[in-house]
Amino acid sequence: MSEPASAEASAGTLLLGPGPSPVSARVMRAMAAPVLSHLDPDMMAILDDVRAQLGRVFRAGDGAFSFAVSGTGTAGMETAVANLTRPGARAIAVVNGYFGDRLAQMLQRYGAAVTRVDGEWGRAIDPARLDEALASGADLVAMVHAETSTGVLNPVADLCRLAAARGAKTIVDCVTSLGAHPVAAAAWGADAIYSCTQKGLGAPSGLAPVSFTADVISRLKAGAADSQGRSFYFDLGLLHDYWVDRKYHHTISAPLVYALQEALAAVEDEGHEARWQRHETTHLAFAAALQEIGLDLLPPPAERLWSLNAVTVPDGVDEARVRKALLAEHGIEIGAGLGPLAGKIWRVGLMGSGSTRENVTRLVSALAGLVRR
Ligand SMILES: Cc1ncc(COP(=O)(O)O)c(C=O)c1O
Repeated sequence: MSEPASAEASAGTLLLGPGPSPVSARVMRAMAAPVLSHLDPDMMAILDDVRAQLGRVFRAGDGAFSFAVSGTGTAGMETAVANLTRPGARAIAVVNGYFGDRLAQMLQRYGAAVTRVDGEWGRAIDPARLDEALASGADLVAMVHAETSTGVLNPVADLCRLAAARGAKTIVDCVTSLGAHPVAAAAWGADAIYSCTQKGLGAPSGLAPVSFTADVISRLKAGAADSQGRSFYFDLGLLHDYWVDRKYHHTISAPLVYALQEALAAVEDEGHEARWQRHETTHLAFAAALQEIGLDLLPPPAERLWSLNAVTVPDGVDEARVRKALLAEHGIEIGAGLGPLAGKIWRVGLMGSGSTRENVTRLVSALAGLVRR
């Protein structure tokens, strides 16, 4: 069974930006169920199901703690950072885009001594660069799998392997890859991994799926974490107490939990591999259709995301004019470039139920007319 069928729910604007992606009618309907309290036994049963489904979609290892933090993808990032760093820890941030930079900033705010491994925006990171930086020693390496600001897929399996070989823990951002690209937390050896609900999974924003390895959890339980972290809201021990031991920590949003549970069920109905393949096929169709109208993507083919396409703005074309006309005249939202890529790229998300050939055709025919205008 395939997941698209978002038309009913997204009859307004067609969301083809960097997120949120369209939310299917199935997921929208799930949110209309009566609100349960955060400690209701029925809610706890739903949370157990969400944990199990998240463990599968992250491909987390045995004993991993997979759950969803209240908040958006940035809350997932902050949960990983808050629980794996302590003031003075030596952290390396791999930065080849806006979100790698956000990771570096966050590590710094939590008191880590941060070394940046900077790479070109629009290219994947060369793992040898990380290896050089690791030679000086590190406790932690943080990286982005799918860099949404540039449309680039980073070689996180290699990066995690290099970090582990030097005894450093790893944080992997899968905000724009989960549900769209293969994600394999256990095979990569990621100690903490996080995502969002509003992209490849196809739910509204508001929860951040995260997963920590059994090792991180057992160290925490054994009290091996040398000092208490600074964050109360994102404290892994307190969140574990809530999700697993049913102790009050905060009042989770029932409709968002229902939406995530249903979105994950849709992912499983489609099948993880089939879903990745749909995202790849749609991306390739988009790249081919762009070529036909004389447009290109920023990253080289082997480094491109399937979920987020960074389209190069042709010389002499006003990026904002085209993007605004797409929205006003065709009801299609796409994103602008960030940082050094502002004005130079459009960011087109083909994710979740938005990843369809019909959407490619609709967008490319609209773009063709607007670029020529
Ligand atoms: C790679 C990446 N990391 C983190 C975030 C932050 O997620 P949010 O905007 O849901 O807080 C985003 C958002 O687009 C992202 O693309």
